[in-house]
Amino acid sequence: MRARVVLFRRHVAAAVSVVVCVAALVASAAGRRRDRSRKSRVILDPGRDVCMAEDVPALNLSFPTAWTHGTFCTHPTYLRRQCCSGFQIAALQRGCPVVEPVETVLSAAQQLQPSVDRFVRIAHRHSLPDVVREYHDAAFTLLLPEDQGWTYAEDTVTDEFLRRILVSGRWVPALLLYHVLDRRWHSNHLRDNDELRTLADDRTVAVSKINKKMVLFNCVPTTQLDLHARDGMVHVLTKPLPPAYLHTLADVVLTHPALSLFASLVGYADLMSWVRTEGPLTMLAPTNSALRRLPRRFLDSITYDVRYFEALQAMVKNHLVRGRHCFLELQARVRVETLAGHQLPLLCSASAKLAVGDSNVTRSDLVVANGVIHFIDMPLLPSKAMSLVQVARQAGARRFIELTKRSGLFDDLVSFGPYTVFAPSDEALSRQSSSWLGRDFLRNETALRDLVTYHVALGSHASFTLRDNDELATRREGGVVRVKILPKTMTVEDGLVINGDNEAFNGYVHVVDRVLRPPVHTLARALAVTRNLTRFNTLVTKGDLSLLRELGRGRGPYTLLAVPDEDMDRWASDLFTYYRILHDQTILNQTLNVHLLDDFVMPRGLLEGSHTLLYPRGRRRPRGYEQPLRMVFSKGQLSFDHASVTSDYVLCTNGILLFVDSILLP
Ligand SMILES: *[C@@H]1O[C@H](CO)[C@@H](O)[C@H](O)[C@H]1NC(C)=O
Ligand SMILES: *[C@@H]1O[C@H](CO)[C@@H](O)[C@H](O)[C@H]1NC(C)=O
Ligand SMILES: *[C@@H]1O[C@H](CO)[C@@H](O)[C@H](O)[C@H]1NC(C)=O
Ligand SMILES: *[C@@H]1O[C@H](CO)[C@@H](O)[C@H](O)[C@H]1NC(C)=O
Ligand SMILES: *[C@@H]1O[C@H](CO)[C@@H](O)[C@H](O)[C@H]1NC(C)=O
Repeated sequence: MRARVVLFRRHVAAAVSVVVCVAALVASAAGRRRDRSRKSRVILDPGRDVCMAEDVPALNLSFPTAWTHGTFCTHPTYLRRQCCSGFQIAALQRGCPVVEPVETVLSAAQQLQPSVDRFVRIAHRHSLPDVVREYHDAAFTLLLPEDQGWTYAEDTVTDEFLRRILVSGRWVPALLLYHVLDRRWHSNHLRDNDELRTLADDRTVAVSKINKKMVLFNCVPTTQLDLHARDGMVHVLTKPLPPAYLHTLADVVLTHPALSLFASLVGYADLMSWVRTEGPLTMLAPTNSALRRLPRRFLDSITYDVRYFEALQAMVKNHLVRGRHCFLELQARVRVETLAGHQLPLLCSASAKLAVGDSNVTRSDLVVANGVIHFIDMPLLPSKAMSLVQVARQAGARRFIELTKRSGLFDDLVSFGPYTVFAPSDEALSRQSSSWLGRDFLRNETALRDLVTYHVALGSHASFTLRDNDELATRREGGVVRVKILPKTMTVEDGLVINGDNEAFNGYVHVVDRVLRPPVHTLARALAVTRNLTRFNTLVTKGDLSLLRELGRGRGPYTLLAVPDEDMDRWASDLFTYYRILHDQTILNQTLNVHLLDDFVMPRGLLEGSHTLLYPRGRRRPRGYEQPLRMVFSKGQLSFDHASVTSDYVLCTNGILLFVDSILLP
């Protein structure tokens, strides 16, 4: 059913032979749109001069070589044996042993099916054979477009080409000669990205060779390859060659009416002269309507604000791929890497439409001197060129972005900055929505604004530019967030970063696993209002007043290790020590000082097995003798020397209050 036959060389003389010829040619050379009705001989065995073609029946496509991996745009492909061009079958013999007599390329071309008459007629009218002979006395290669390909034109570049060829006779010879290569090129000798000289003033035609097999000239697929003739070689194309030499990428970007917005991006990114001279490149050009899908303010910011120049360049480069990748090749690939370093997934649908990431290719194969252009209907933003809003959404913080809308911060995140957003994950927010972050809270604009602005720090900070214990000012008036950088984790206040370093053009997004609540109390106040710390608080008020002052007013950040009443009671049964501490002011002062660390200890994010030595004030003694406090995190339990820390803590404006289960002595 899907097998088909035979080609051969053309024979001029014998009329009988011509009839046979035509029938066979029709069968074999059906090309891109195969005529499936004709009867044909099936070649079942491989043999001499049998070539393999590949068909995609569902799309009526046929390729002159087998080059896909068995599917094309979700459809299975079928291999088909046929006689290689210039050979034919003979009764009772294997393979295609009969060699057709050699003829000139143009006379041979007249017998091809589907027809290539149109080109041949124009060629004769303009005496192409004489012109060729005039320029060139050796063998050459003719790239011959099928008739049905002449109706394809719909974009400006090729329109211009057709207008010139059809209307202005003056151009014809040059454009005809552009279809003539200056030597005999067998498809086996063509390589991807070759530029072949034509007889038209040495203008070149670009070769694409997909999977080392399927040959395209200026992105035009071939339907038959390697028809030998006495004076040269013929390859049949689905349509006339676009005159790539007329334009560069820059010319099309600057002149095509659908690309004026993209042109201004390329211009402001200072890349226009680059896309004029560099190549070959593939440009996935977002049309004006594609770019209008972006928020206007974002587009303005990234275009005109010099602070975002790098992001703009990344954005433009994300629409460029190195090499000339024709539509047919992209249809068969699964991804390409852009010059901005991003991998873009490619997906060809059953109807042979191509999606690049989230966008669709709406026009393809505008071939120019230094590459090829495909139009797309949605810009391809690298994370680096997205706004904080887009990046946060992608990183799993959609609900937080919804909150920024209610609190009036949304527009800032779209187009201003730079900011570092510590965005609570969607999960973190939904966990809280049933408790304090309920409907009443959301109705209170002041409270909501306080909360949201607390998650947005000023400046652009990646984890690798931050240092342990950095404090970042936030958009919330006077609000500061404290960052801990550990070997493998990062925390901000008590939020553990679960998806960090998402770069946007105007900052970074770090997704955290908690909603961060601005602390309200100082350590001293927290000590006073926490119910189960009354006894410890009594000790502190009896002790060193300078310490109390620090807890009440100092900037810190400190870590206060407080002992709950229950544990104080247990410990007070050791009457001797208790008595000594209560009645010896020096010992009391020192004891309390052991409980105060000049450090911000965040129990979350600690790695199993980690241990650190800390020097609290109470253990620094004269003459250099210092006895550190050993902080160990083991089996999920944090401890300081022999005192274990409970999992609760109170974040305070000047530090953190941890609960330990016993007194630490100096
Ligand atoms: C394929 O060709 C057949 C017969 O010429 C036609 O009926 C059919 O609509 C074509 N299918 C496609 C997808 O072009
Ligand atoms: C791309 O095409 C698909 C399928 O035709 C469609 O669902 C999608 O919305 C298109 N995308 C855009 C950005 O138009
Ligand atoms: C809203 O929140 C602020 C600050 O959290 C608070 O002072 C105020 O009383 C709240 N207003 C209402 C109506 O609940
Ligand atoms: C002491 O009180 C704090 C805050 O109310 C609480 O989180 C903690 O679990 C209590 N500790 C003990 C040992 O009861
Ligand atoms: C302990 O602190 C108290 C209160 O600040 C102070 O008066 C006293 O001198 C301190 N004692 C010693 C021995 O440091």
